[in-house]
Amino acid sequence: MKMWSGRFRQPLDPEFERWQRSFDFDRRLLAYELEASSAYARALKEAGVLSSAELIEILDGLEKIGARAKDDPAFLDDQEAEDIHHFVEKQLVALIGNTGLKLHSGRSRNEQIATDLRLYARASIEQLRKQIADLLEVFVDRAEQAGNAAMPAYTHLQRAEPVLVAHWLLVYFEMLLRDAGRLQDCAHRLNVCPLGCGAVAGTTLPLDRALLAKILGFDTPAANSMDVTSDRDFALEFVNDLSLLALHLSRWAEEMILFSTQEYGFVRLPEAYSTGSSAMPQKKNADLLELTRAKAARVLANAVALQTTVKGLPLAYNKDLQETQEPLFQSVEIMLSLLPMASGWMRSMEFDFETMQKGAQHGFMNSFAAATYLVCKGVPFRTAHEQIGKAVQLCLEQGCELENLPLEQLRKLNSSFDQDFYSSLKLSAVLAIHDVPGGTEPGRVRQAIAVAKQKIELLREVSHARA
Ligand code: ARG
Repeated sequence: MKMWSGRFRQPLDPEFERWQRSFDFDRRLLAYELEASSAYARALKEAGVLSSAELIEILDGLEKIGARAKDDPAFLDDQEAEDIHHFVEKQLVALIGNTGLKLHSGRSRNEQIATDLRLYARASIEQLRKQIADLLEVFVDRAEQAGNAAMPAYTHLQRAEPVLVAHWLLVYFEMLLRDAGRLQDCAHRLNVCPLGCGAVAGTTLPLDRALLAKILGFDTPAANSMDVTSDRDFALEFVNDLSLLALHLSRWAEEMILFSTQEYGFVRLPEAYSTGSSAMPQKKNADLLELTRAKAARVLANAVALQTTVKGLPLAYNKDLQETQEPLFQSVEIMLSLLPMASGWMRSMEFDFETMQKGAQHGFMNSFAAATYLVCKGVPFRTAHEQIGKAVQLCLEQGCELENLPLEQLRKLNSSFDQDFYSSLKLSAVLAIHDVPGGTEPGRVRQAIAVAKQKIELLREVSHARA
């Protein structure tokens, strides 16, 4: 039986009828639909619409539907169900008879889908935050293991200055921590309860909306019935947050791909997460990283799809909103499968510290430190910059590094050069002068690792508190 056939004289075109359904994808919402329906039944009982016996029958029926779906996946192969709401009502009536038809009293699918999607988003965010915490931990572990190993940092993809490998790894920690924070904000903002808002104007029964919100763990009932039944901001915000997360993983993947090439040779691809070539026997390819880049494209596209779907919608509910579900589900599923992959990859890859260290010591990466040496001798930075630039020019002509220039040559450029210049050019000295919060001086990086560990703890505690 349909949920709305009374005013119709003709049956639907069968093709259209199949085409407009959402059950194929909104079946994912079953657990939330059952949870929300149980809460709703309790509110109906409080309002005197259901007797205690009817409430028990309904709660029992809903529980049975959940259990059956767990035991028998074929149970969900329902060719008639229009959507998850219709499916549950149908099954409930099949189980308990006409009392099942009372559950929809004063209720609309518009508020139901708004509720289910919020519950889904809230639970997904919890899962994602745990996975992000796991990945953060891997980055911090690897940073800690890297000790004082150094590597070149690049700007414009040209060698710039040496940094600790740990300092570089913590960049990804910062990015992903911001992502976790954004998801936390999103979970907070979405946590209002649509139930009791009906189709558009509010339910027609004296329901206790505060009770509904409380049962479902929402902070408060939504303030405006028209708003909440037409609002998908939370889905847009969520998928936008996910697209930033995906984008960060894509940058990570790209950098790892570059660093694993023979041209760089900083990173060895883990065999467990790489594939070979059917043609070239020597190949080991970075498939996981490449797929990460491409999956990010799909999440970004979904964010755009959601924005475009909602952009021209008049208030309040429109069926267009049904199309907001799949981009949301797909983005969540992509990220839930991707994050553990990234953790596994990061845990098993290997660094070639020797090559990295070599890279950190060649190509005039101590030039900034050399200019700083002159600044400490009282030379204006602009002048020092010019003179070190000239020294680099000399090195290029002679095919050597700054530390190979004899003092006489240096003194022709500036009489302040002295023997201690050479020790200021050593890798350890170059790292040591970046001694500011956020800088790559080894002590600062060790502190940053300690702070990062505390932040992961905090993140796990918040997850725990909400679970
Ligand atoms: N399947 C629908 C959706 O996802 C549920 C709401 C249907 N409401 C309606 N008025 N037809 O949006």
